[in-house]
Amino acid sequence: VRMGTVGGSVKANPAAAAGLCIAAVSSSQELGELMTAVGLAQNLAALKALATDGIQRGHMRLHARSVALAADVPRHLQDRVVRSMIDSERISESKARQIVAEIESAQRDPGDTALGRGSASGKVILLGEHAVVYGRPAVALPLPEAISASLYASSSGTTLRIPSWNLEQELGQDAADGAMALLQLVIRHLGLESQRFLMHVDARIPPAAGLGASAALAVAMIRALDSAYSLGMNDKTVNDLAFECETISHGTPSGIDNSVAVSGKAMVFRRKGPRRIRELSLDRLPPLVIAWSGTRGSTRQQVEAVRERWLKAKAAHERIFDEIGQISLEGARALGKGDDARLGSLMNIAHGLLNALQVSTPLIEEMVDIARSGGAAGAKLTGAGGGGSIVALCPGTTEEVSGALSAAGFEVISGFAVTGGRDEQG
Ligand code: MEV
Repeated sequence: VRMGTVGGSVKANPAAAAGLCIAAVSSSQELGELMTAVGLAQNLAALKALATDGIQRGHMRLHARSVALAADVPRHLQDRVVRSMIDSERISESKARQIVAEIESAQRDPGDTALGRGSASGKVILLGEHAVVYGRPAVALPLPEAISASLYASSSGTTLRIPSWNLEQELGQDAADGAMALLQLVIRHLGLESQRFLMHVDARIPPAAGLGASAALAVAMIRALDSAYSLGMNDKTVNDLAFECETISHGTPSGIDNSVAVSGKAMVFRRKGPRRIRELSLDRLPPLVIAWSGTRGSTRQQVEAVRERWLKAKAAHERIFDEIGQISLEGARALGKGDDARLGSLMNIAHGLLNALQVSTPLIEEMVDIARSGGAAGAKLTGAGGGGSIVALCPGTTEEVSGALSAAGFEVISGFAVTGGRDEQG
């Protein structure tokens, strides 16, 4: 292909002259080759976006959402049905109705026949994730009753059922990770290997979304077993065992997730020290919007990746952790005073620092950008990152920000009154 590189029209057009200068081509033949290569690269990029999860992911989600609406899926089940249709790769009204029927039948409460029940809070980390693993303070709020577990008698084997996660598993060979691995560890610790039961779990938050689902699941299951078999556990013993469970999910957990799961209180948390947990009493609930990217993030992987980078550049990472720790303390004060402008700006800075730790992703950045453009005073990733969720502080703009995130195909986690705790404690 030969292109014009000289002549009146090329000279007269300053953009053409600038383009030739940037491309640094020496002949019309070379310019033709360059243009062909760029054109081909663009075509391949478009094909990749269409064929992999680039454009398709968002479109699938939007499509599945309108199919769910057309199938009259009840509002409280819509997110779950959309997720199941995408996971099953079948998006149709009949599939949506089938999923609703399955969820409803699995959730039908068998009445008073439960031998024991337990529940626990999820969490949203407002400030301080990752730095908390290195001893700095973090601020977390509970997502009350995010997970509830009921235990039923079973004459056959032991089954774990979590309908909203599409999970039904028999206790069998050793599970390396996931929900069944948690249950196995708990059964072993509590000496309940000879018991047979059905553990039915109602989960209102997605797994691996940075919202403390694994800790809440462990705590809810431990509490259900404690009440079914009268084990006489208290919050401390439940918390200790849940921390053990967290080592399966997280490797080297700080303990923040299980502490919030057990107490259900807003807190400033430190890994060690005399005032490890300071519960916060809040006069008002902060106007938060929490949204899930739809991608799962592995806390274990993210914590390990940060550790590897820390080992390579300890001083630089320690300075970032120090800064995050300071921001957590300032943020806790702003939260107590209801100073949303201050808290929002601290959340934005914290997100920048989490970026410096390289735990954000392009999707999370997109969500943060949507939230800020929609009027959030602050928005950041929450939890370990590498996928997962964002939290945005939206005084007077919760509707706009939730609407913009849903319209872009992200799942807004709603239905939780994010509560404060009791009076401050030592
Ligand atoms: C996970 O919810 C929060 C992290 O800081 C890990 C931890 O504290 O265990 C990333």
